[in-house]
Amino acid sequence: MLNKKITELLNSQINKEFYSSYLYLDMSNYYFESNLNGFGKWFAIQAQEEYEHAMLFLKYILNSSEKVELNDIVSPNKHYTDFKQPLEGSMEHEIYITTAINHIFDEAYSLKDFKTVQFLEWFVKEQGEEEKNADDLLKRFEMFGTDPRGLYLLDAELGTRVFKSPSIKVK
Ligand code: FEO
Repeated sequence: MLNKKITELLNSQINKEFYSSYLYLDMSNYYFESNLNGFGKWFAIQAQEEYEHAMLFLKYILNSSEKVELNDIVSPNKHYTDFKQPLEGSMEHEIYITTAINHIFDEAYSLKDFKTVQFLEWFVKEQGEEEKNADDLLKRFEMFGTDPRGLYLLDAELGTRVFKSPSIKVK
């Protein structure tokens, strides 16, 4: 069983992670439509990862015998006009998600809900990696992406990304 506030926050995080998946899928579509298939693939995999994150929160709530609430997922409703905008959006979004996860961690810790604290530790670490990836991609785009040959090579490299399942399991 979980504290009511913690259950609400975890349910809200399911929604945030599904929204993240939607947001990255929208970015992926934008790049595919722009014939940058490597960027498109990179963001499609990112969307897949976010789906997995949502499912981890969902399973954790179920396993704690609490009710899962699936709320509406807002449309990303973005209209990108240059290749850099999704990369900036991704950076901004990951910072927002880190703040949300830190907030749940903080609440769980205050309530001495150490089971949830332990579950969230993986996400705290993961957010560090997500922010670093978003920052690296943005910086590399700034360095190479404005030159057509640089953009071509960066796109080719991003196209080699493969999906990896999260390294934690919630049974
Ligand atoms: Fe699930 Fe990119 O945070």
